[in-house]
Amino acid sequence: MKKIIIAIDGFSSCGKSTMAKDLAKEIGYTYIDSGAMYRAVALYCMRHHLLPDGRIDEENLRAALPAIHISFVFNPETGKPDTYLNGVNVEKEIRGMEVANLVSPVAALGFVRKTLVEKQQEMGKAKGIVMDGRDIGTVVFPAAELKIFVTASPEVRAKRRMDELIAKGEPASYEEALENIVKRDYIDSNREESPLRQAEDALVLDNSSMSIAEQKAWLLAQYDNVVKA
Ligand code: DC
Repeated sequence: MKKIIIAIDGFSSCGKSTMAKDLAKEIGYTYIDSGAMYRAVALYCMRHHLLPDGRIDEENLRAALPAIHISFVFNPETGKPDTYLNGVNVEKEIRGMEVANLVSPVAALGFVRKTLVEKQQEMGKAKGIVMDGRDIGTVVFPAAELKIFVTASPEVRAKRRMDELIAKGEPASYEEALENIVKRDYIDSNREESPLRQAEDALVLDNSSMSIAEQKAWLLAQYDNVVKA
């Protein structure tokens, strides 16, 4: 069976990573969470005093980038890859609210994007990957054989995000989750560098009222259409 690249883009907390991970597992592909890479850089900024007065110290971040090594190691317990920053598992830390509040401005920096996009393209060289993010079908892999653009209402996403945090034992409020989502949608869609945009040849999936099983079936059907064409 031919190996392809599957790009899954869309708004925050749309369930992209769950569907991308499940699809990858089902078809024996590697799943890569590109958002985790931007989150890891945001965590690096927090830990290395690159946020004086709440601003990002761009000059020092640019200088530090070659020393920021991000990798993924499959965790059989969760069935997902864990994110490692310079050899240390940071999966839990990058999912908290502190990183969520900082990651969009970090992801808006052109020099950060350029470096991470190159790493992502390298990871996809052999194909057989499902990568989720914001610019995968438009910038990272414009020639991806299958592109999906996922969307759901901000209210549905805030509820999902809140449930996810609570399930992990982290304090979360619906209002805070909604505010964070609306703010991130705005920054992600309006930034100058690779704004979140639907690729012209992407298939749109609004999953506001779809179950995970329904989404999975839909995605598999799209995958079959492409590989059996
Ligand atoms: O998918 P996520 O919520 O983990 O992404 C975290 C942030 O990183 C989000 O604010 C948008 C940004 N991002 C991006 O700009 N480009 C990507 N390919 C993936 C994520």
